[in-house]
Amino acid sequence: SESLDPRYTIKGGTAEQQQAVNVLARQFLLTDERLAEIIKVFRRRMEEGLASDGKMMKMIPSFVTRRPTGKETGSYYAIDLGGTNLRVLKVTLDGKGGATSMHQKFALPDEAKSRTLFDFIAQCVETFLDDHNIRPTGHQPPINMGFTFSYPVQQTSINSGTLVQWTKGLNVPGCVGRDVVRLLQDALLRLGLRVKVAALVNDTVGTLLSAAYADPSSQMGIIFGTGTNSAYYESATNIAKWKGPNPKSGEIVLNIEWGAFDSDEFGVLPFTPHDIKLDRKSINPRKQAYEKMISGMYLGEIARNIVLWLADQRLLLDGRSSEILNAMWSVDTSYLSSAAVDNSPDLTEIQQIIEKTLNVPNSTIVDRQIFKVISLLVGERAARLSSVGVVATLTKRPDLLNKHVNVGIDGSMYEHYPDFERIMSETVSHFIPEEQFKNITFNCAKDGSGVGAAIVAMLAAEQE
Ligand code: GLC
Repeated sequence: SESLDPRYTIKGGTAEQQQAVNVLARQFLLTDERLAEIIKVFRRRMEEGLASDGKMMKMIPSFVTRRPTGKETGSYYAIDLGGTNLRVLKVTLDGKGGATSMHQKFALPDEAKSRTLFDFIAQCVETFLDDHNIRPTGHQPPINMGFTFSYPVQQTSINSGTLVQWTKGLNVPGCVGRDVVRLLQDALLRLGLRVKVAALVNDTVGTLLSAAYADPSSQMGIIFGTGTNSAYYESATNIAKWKGPNPKSGEIVLNIEWGAFDSDEFGVLPFTPHDIKLDRKSINPRKQAYEKMISGMYLGEIARNIVLWLADQRLLLDGRSSEILNAMWSVDTSYLSSAAVDNSPDLTEIQQIIEKTLNVPNSTIVDRQIFKVISLLVGERAARLSSVGVVATLTKRPDLLNKHVNVGIDGSMYEHYPDFERIMSETVSHFIPEEQFKNITFNCAKDGSGVGAAIVAMLAAEQE
């Protein structure tokens, strides 16, 4: 039997193997017509989120209403809590749109992810201050720090907000519904640290602000990392639910929380049995539906489900598995990135992954080809789906597209998945008229989430 795309042809495989690959290819294929339909629903959900709270996509006002000019100078501090790491940084703005940062990175231990998070963060801040010899003593003023917290928070001011729910891998009891700045500030106090949490910032808001510091025409910040989400400048008059004062700038940065798109409903995204299996076993079933098809935390697990589905039919690895491969989350998304670019004749990189990392010996060249196709299918669907949010957001304020618009992007998927950016932007170009599309630039906002938090802390201090 033939394949849909020459890249999905399994050379030397059996007809049954090719058929199974074709089934997958059809499940993971997303036509432009299908995408157009998803974009339409996405836009409707954005409008609902602007009208009232508690909707599927939260559209959270960030209390950031200004844009940096790029001329600001000085050094500012930030704490950046992502899905996998914690970083403490000192950011120096050069007044010409450039920023340098000095940072210390700490891996989040399991204990912090499930129990001791805020004390762990405070300890890291202490280590940073001591290592750099900048711990304020009793008579010195406290250090202001921006806090990037990459989870959904219903913001109540520039430096307070309650956790809506945990997403990605974190699950610390007793935090939902509480002010996360208070939780951190208390942990800092317990260590006697003179540090004031001056701004609370979603990582997408940080990414947008750091992009805006470098290029004032930045409208959107996106994370394609462990999770996925975006923030953009919305005109205050479009936010019906906003009860706060009308900002001078007329704009407010909104944190979309787009990872939640299609949650609970499962109405429009292209779920396969492999996605459903992942969802059921995740810590947040029926939640973060869009995120689970796009982001780094999940793609490896989708691939693992596919591998086992094929192995169980004896179409892959001669039906064998291993203790590692049987364990949830054992296939890291980075393996897919490596597999997708393995063009060696024997697919030695993939062999390494299957035999050494996943501990299933004696893979055949056919097994490795199938593994590569799985990696391509899962990654390309993610990149194409990611264009949905980009198109829906950029076309929301169409006037903006008549001049240069920059989109700042950060995250491991964007950085490391081969062709992610190319496929995403090419797909976007199918849905935006050419004369407008040419006004859009996508730029890597490396470390934007941390740098942005420092910038928000600076803007907050200016506002006082
Ligand atoms: C998850 C979080 C969101 C964050 C995103 C990217 O979707 O809910 O707040 O921005 O991950 O890190």
